[in-house]
Amino acid sequence: MSAGPADFEQALAETAAAVDATLDALLPRADGVEGRVAEAMRYATLNGGKRLRPFLVVAGAQLFEVSEPSARRTAAAVEMIHCYSLVHDDLPAMDDDDVRRGRPSCHVAFDEATAILAGDALLTYAFEALSAPETHASAAVRCELVRGLAVAAGCGGMVGGQMIDLLAAESTLDIDGVTRLQKLKTGALIAFACEAGAILGEAGAEARAALAGYGHDLGLAFQIADDLLDIEGSEAETGKAVGKDAAAGKATFVGLLGVDGARDRARVLVDRAVGRLARFGDKADSLRAVARFAIARRH
Ligand code: FPP
Ligand code: MG
Repeated sequence: MSAGPADFEQALAETAAAVDATLDALLPRADGVEGRVAEAMRYATLNGGKRLRPFLVVAGAQLFEVSEPSARRTAAAVEMIHCYSLVHDDLPAMDDDDVRRGRPSCHVAFDEATAILAGDALLTYAFEALSAPETHASAAVRCELVRGLAVAAGCGGMVGGQMIDLLAAESTLDIDGVTRLQKLKTGALIAFACEAGAILGEAGAEARAALAGYGHDLGLAFQIADDLLDIEGSEAETGKAVGKDAAAGKATFVGLLGVDGARDRARVLVDRAVGRLARFGDKADSLRAVARFAIARRH
């Protein structure tokens, strides 16, 4: 039996609360002259995000009976990377957005230099937290996590995707180009979040590949939903400015496929993502629910 949407929303909220507590405990507290950067790190992180990536880590870890503290620390590290990317993405030099998660962006609440440093510190702190013995007893597992997260966040992943995105206003990307951009920019981190539970659980290569494949499909479906929200959603729903893609002249899935075509593509991706979970049986029901949520969401 699969969980309904209400069960899923509750599970998402419960995981968000648990991971928020881990983030709160892990993140440095404002202290001394340099305390301002710690304050900005906390501002950028403890602010009511959906915690979708942490949910994926925790749900993946449950497939392999990974301990909750291990799963939560890994989830918190992934969320720190996500939050750093949002802080830098909102800067005037990048997307220049004043609102994030319904509040002033980090550089508006603090200042640009502090926001840059807070992003840098979140990026490095994620690896500090992940590599600590409390994350997993095996150093080999911790090393594999660090490597996987670095690959997903770096030049061949999120940073590379962001570079393509920043150049996209001056180029004309076709559907393959947009797919590649999004695979790198959002998909790589989402895929790592899905695969992390298998790394923590020292699962076999096939299970790992199934989860990574699920994550890649989910990531693309999630991005298509984001594109749809950019034209159909409101700032009140999404907590950030909308209509920016079209204004910037950026090629998007919706621009290339039309609203109906994009929605169809997202449905196909979600079906394929769910298909990859067959080997895990009922235990993967919460991952099935995330896939459905990814395209039904309004925020
Ligand atoms: C919304 O996530 C965020 C995205 C769709 C990802 C956007 C990716 C970037 C901004 C990459 C930037 C990279 C660099 C290196 C600056 P969400 O809907 O889960 O938002 P939430 O966490 O606020 O709920
Ligand atoms: Mg942006």
